[in-house]
Amino acid sequence: MITGKTKLTGVIGHPIKHSFSPPMHNTAYEKMNMDYVYVPFHILPENIDNLITSAKTMNIQGLNVTIPYKTTIIPQLDEIDEIAQKIGAINTVQFKNGKAKGYNTDGIGAIKSLKKYTKLEDKNILILGAGGASKAITFTLTYENPQSITIANRTQQNADTLIENIKKQTPYTNISYIPIQNTDEIIDNIDIIINTTPIGMTPNTDECPINTDKINQKHTVMDIIYNPLETKLLKKAKQQKAQTIPGTHMLINQGIEAFKIFTNQTPKYEYFEKPLLKILTQKQ
Ligand code: ATR
Repeated sequence: MITGKTKLTGVIGHPIKHSFSPPMHNTAYEKMNMDYVYVPFHILPENIDNLITSAKTMNIQGLNVTIPYKTTIIPQLDEIDEIAQKIGAINTVQFKNGKAKGYNTDGIGAIKSLKKYTKLEDKNILILGAGGASKAITFTLTYENPQSITIANRTQQNADTLIENIKKQTPYTNISYIPIQNTDEIIDNIDIIINTTPIGMTPNTDECPINTDKINQKHTVMDIIYNPLETKLLKKAKQQKAQTIPGTHMLINQGIEAFKIFTNQTPKYEYFEKPLLKILTQKQ
C-alpha cells in the first residue's frame, strides 16, 4: 500500500507507455517488502528543461532516463559518474543529499550478462553497431582488458568516431573497424560477438546482422534485442553450438544496477526476470 512514507522512484521518457521498468522494479519492491514505488513519467520535450529541479522538489529518490533524454538531461545534473561522463549518456539519476548524480548502467548490465558465461580478459570481441548502446558497452568493456575490440558497422564514419573517442578517453588502444558485411574474414579469431544493431528486431525477425556460417562452439554470442526473445542471430548461433545470451539479460541487469543505486539493496535476478518474461511472452 502507498502511504505517507512511501519513497518515489520512476522513469522519464517520451514515449514511456511501453517501458518494462515499472513492472520489474515494482515486483522487486513488493517481493522485498520495501516501501517504494516506481512510476512512469511521460515528459514532453517542451517540459524537460527543469526536470531535475522538479524531481528534487518532489523528493524523488531515483529516476531512470530513457529515449530521448539520455544525453540532453546531462547539463541539469550536479554530478556524473566517470564512465557515464565518458559515454556521454546516462540512464539513471540518484538523488542524495540534495544532489542529482547521473550514471549509465547499460554497459555494466551488458558486462554482467557476459561475465555469467565467459571471462572477458584477453578475449577478442566483435561488436556489431556503433550507436548509443554500442558506445555504452564498448566503453565499459575497455575496463575488462579484452585482447581486442572490433567494431563492425554499416557506416564507417560512425565507427571511426566511436573508436577515436575510446582512444582519446581511455588507455585502450587495440580497437579497430571492419565493414559489417566482412565479419567472415575475422570470425575465426573472435571469441565473443555482441549485436547492438536493431537488425532482427520484431517485425524484421527474418533479418540477421552478419553471416553466421562460421559461428561455432568456441563463440559466445549476445544480442541486446529482447523482442523476439531469441533473434535469428541467436537461433543460428545456438544451432551451431555457440553459447548464446538473449537481450533480456542486459535489460534485467541494467535495471538491477539502477535499483542498487536507488535503494542500496540488491534484488534477486528472478524478481526482475519473471514480470519481464511474462510481458514478452504475451507479446509473441
Ligand atoms: P542505438 O539505440 O544503439 O543508438 P541506433 O542508433 O538505432 O541504436 O543504431 C545502432 C546501430 O545499428 C548503428 O551502428 C547503425 O548503423 P549506422 O551507423 O550505419 O547507422 C546500425 N543499424 C541500424 N539499422 C541498420 C541496418 N538496417 N543495417 C545495418 N546497420 C544498421
